[in-house]
Amino acid sequence: MTDDLHEFLGGATPLGWIEAALANQELMLLDHANCEKKAAGTAFQLMFRYTDKPDLQHRMSRLAREELRHFEQVLTLIRRRGIALRQVSSSRYAAGLRELARNHEPFRLADTLVIGAFIEARSCERFALLVPHLDEELGRFYHGLLKSEARHFQDYLKLAYLYGERADVEATVARVRVREYELMSEADGEFRFHSGVPAAA
Ligand SMILES: [Fe+2]
Ligand SMILES: [Fe+2]
Repeated sequence: MTDDLHEFLGGATPLGWIEAALANQELMLLDHANCEKKAAGTAFQLMFRYTDKPDLQHRMSRLAREELRHFEQVLTLIRRRGIALRQVSSSRYAAGLRELARNHEPFRLADTLVIGAFIEARSCERFALLVPHLDEELGRFYHGLLKSEARHFQDYLKLAYLYGERADVEATVARVRVREYELMSEADGEFRFHSGVPAAA
């Protein structure tokens, strides 16, 4: 993982979350599959909303394809492990972050892109933390994914600076950083890939 990604995030994932993830690997994989689908969905939403921005169109199209490929890879792993697909509710994380986006342009776009950068950066950080503790197959898969998530983090951040005003984007980064750290480190009612530390863990 790159140094700038560590600097970008407000702090490291607590040990309690890692323990919960290792104890709930089936749930983690099911929620992870959802996250990949949602990541593709977010990219599509941006493509439909901002049709006049060529850099965004190109980057988000590539990103959506990559996230869907990740989804298919997780799904293959889930099926190979004999895990039954079931509905898994979303964690509070993404919705909690989206509340921070202002709802008027041009800020709505820049804020959404900054939030995307945080979600990708945190995913990358968590994959990296899990890799040394996982079985060989899952460890290899997550190691491969953390490189893409680091790239997605950079893509989102570059687009935020492209469409936003520098000082304003910097202020948004500082604002989202505080909330993101709270959401992923404080006690949480349930374990999810982007949850805080589950109370029962
Ligand atoms: Fe992904
Ligand atoms: Fe991603």
